[in-house]
Amino acid sequence: MNARKIIVDCDPGIDDALALMLLLRSPEVEILGITVVCGNVPTAVGAENALKILSWMDRPDIPVYTGEESPLTRSYVDARDTHGSDGLGETFYPSVTSVRPHRDAVQFLADTLAKAKETEEKITILALGPLTNIARLIERHPDCLDAIDGFYSMGGCYRSHGNCSPVAEYNYWCDPHAAKAVFDAFASLPQLSGRQIQMIGLDVTRKIVLTPNLIEYLCRLNPEIGEKVRRITRFYVDFHWKQEGIIGCVINDPLAAAYLIDHSLCTGFSAHTEVETEGICLGQSVVDAFGFWDVPENSYILTRTSPLRFMEMFFERLTGIAAEKLSPALRQLMAPDSADMEGSL
Ligand code: RIB
Ligand code: CA
Repeated sequence: MNARKIIVDCDPGIDDALALMLLLRSPEVEILGITVVCGNVPTAVGAENALKILSWMDRPDIPVYTGEESPLTRSYVDARDTHGSDGLGETFYPSVTSVRPHRDAVQFLADTLAKAKETEEKITILALGPLTNIARLIERHPDCLDAIDGFYSMGGCYRSHGNCSPVAEYNYWCDPHAAKAVFDAFASLPQLSGRQIQMIGLDVTRKIVLTPNLIEYLCRLNPEIGEKVRRITRFYVDFHWKQEGIIGCVINDPLAAAYLIDHSLCTGFSAHTEVETEGICLGQSVVDAFGFWDVPENSYILTRTSPLRFMEMFFERLTGIAAEKLSPALRQLMAPDSADMEGSL
């Protein structure tokens, strides 16, 4: 099987870290490089975190590039209240010194796409943060975009409420002008014709909750990786209790990564989507689900997923244990609630 060549554009970030761990244990994909954008944490901090994750997963060979350090127009607002001051749940793991990040993520994206275009290869981009780097790529290097055969963005929401405002999700709220530029490009640029943004939004990611029980199970199965996951998610779980009154943490980015690997994990529909850049709905992904506007369907909006099947893949890849062996325990740990459990009164 030829692995799919991908570039991960991210803002690590706790759930970005979990997504990278999943991807790095998945033979279906070959990560050509990691580009970092300002988001959860400043770009330089995110790049250090990407190097730490690559070191944990024994992949120091994968290059990391620093990208844009502020949104296109808005003032930069981080998400350190959610991810901790270090971006990895205030675990303050030591920085990697043997490898350093490269500069100019946008140039790396452009060079990689241009080379792929010459050799008639195809590249997939998985965007797990604000779309600032991608907007700059489109603005400066439109002619290399033909080489993109898949574009996946964790971001936005259709019918789910936002996490930064009643209607806006963080990645598109942090840099709405970039998100708008990217969605508009997929509706208008000939270099992107026939392709859509796969929008993995809060409608599906909110259903993916990593609970303390699941973390405990992961630690029992594979103490080394489980303890890393436990440590970096503790801050995130505390945030979710304070912010949303749930026990556990919504892991958005790993679902986007898993869906890239296996499209059967989610379903949705094609639509034209635009991103609002001003007013009280700033950052909202406005999905024309009923075709009011006669314009190209630039996006595929995910609305349904299987949390159990996701967790089976996530655990299988992180532990190396076959999903069918994990499934009974995962079913028991993910039972919707006691009233639904077999044998209950
Ligand atoms: O809204 C959730 C998204 O914003 C995730 O990608 C998280 O890592 C942050 O980037
Ligand atoms: Ca992210």
